[in-house]
Amino acid sequence: MNVQKVMVIGAGQMGQGIAQVMAQAGRDTYLNDISEEIAAKGMRAIQKILEKDVVKGKITEDRKEEILGRLKPSAKLSDAADCDLVVEAIVENIETKGRVFRTLDEVCRTGCILATNTSSLPITEIAAFTKRPEKVIGMHFMNPVPVMKLVEIIRGLATSDETYELVRSESLNLGKVPVEVRDVPGFISNRVLQVMINEAIYCLYEGVASVEDIDQVMKLGMNHPMGPLQLADFIGLDTVLAIMETLYEGYGDCKYRPCPLLRQYVKAGWYGKKSGRGFYNYR
Ligand code: CAA
Ligand code: NAD
Repeated sequence: MNVQKVMVIGAGQMGQGIAQVMAQAGRDTYLNDISEEIAAKGMRAIQKILEKDVVKGKITEDRKEEILGRLKPSAKLSDAADCDLVVEAIVENIETKGRVFRTLDEVCRTGCILATNTSSLPITEIAAFTKRPEKVIGMHFMNPVPVMKLVEIIRGLATSDETYELVRSESLNLGKVPVEVRDVPGFISNRVLQVMINEAIYCLYEGVASVEDIDQVMKLGMNHPMGPLQLADFIGLDTVLAIMETLYEGYGDCKYRPCPLLRQYVKAGWYGKKSGRGFYNYR
């Protein structure tokens, strides 16, 4: 099967990036969200990135128009009826994802593959919301999607070899490097990364150093492009907390206990860059 029509669900930072790389690779792509306004906002953000690429001389004006021409906003999951591949990138919450997968299973044609960009949730559990678990798979892109090379691919218990091969070859078509990882909480990426981020938040909580100094140590000392607190803000603190909860519950090990300061920030609505306030102030 060739992938020609795609729906990306969730027009937030990940959905925007995934839709952009899909359209760049020649796929007709719906960018879906809960309302037309949010989907349109996602489209405008992609347009802005592409306009910057034109100014930088990375792409031509014609190429920009060609890519934008392949993107369509959507506020109805039923638009996925004739899609070959759906990539879900909505909030990191199993009940919300479950509702979307149940609906997708009803509206999508039998052959359509249902992929999730979840950061940490069990693919097997997401697949069980459908009657086609062999067609459900984890396709985990990294943020910012147009820049980062990795796609973690995670099979659920019932994912077929055919589904895996198609998603692997589609990742290569997008210019990405796929790596297969088993269906364990947080996969590899977030099992390793989020523990570091959570530990950095504990350092702040305990008054070991300031936000800036914690980040400086990891940037200058370990050559990380962003410090862990800046990276947490970039990912979204709601997402970081959701991932830590999945790790804590999934492994039952106290080394994954989310820092109380992280919980407090999320309760305050300080989600990081996307809400204007996190460990840093973006307003
Ligand atoms: N969309 C598209 N392109 C973007 C972008 C975005 N959102 N953000 C940056 N870029 C591009 C810029 O246009 C620029 O391109 P050119 O070199 O062609 O001009 C390039 O990326 C570098 O950007 P900048 O010069 O503005 O800034 P930088 O050198 O500091 O790089 C960065 C920015 C790539 C984000 C870098 O800071 C970085 O690598 N940070 C760490 C990112 C990371 O760790 N991501 C993984 C997060 S965890 C995850 O994704 C998994 C999960 O489940 C939570
Ligand atoms: P985000 O908060 O930027 O965007 C989420 C979007 O999903 C919002 O626009 C919201 O309106 C939309 N949404 C919520 N419920 C929906 C529904 N029922 N139908 C359609 N749209 C719905 O989040 P994000 O950072 O883009 O993360 C999305 C997913 O990608 C999460 O599962 C997250 O764990 C994963 N992920 C995030 C990162 C990251 O660095 N932020 C990296 C890799 C994977």
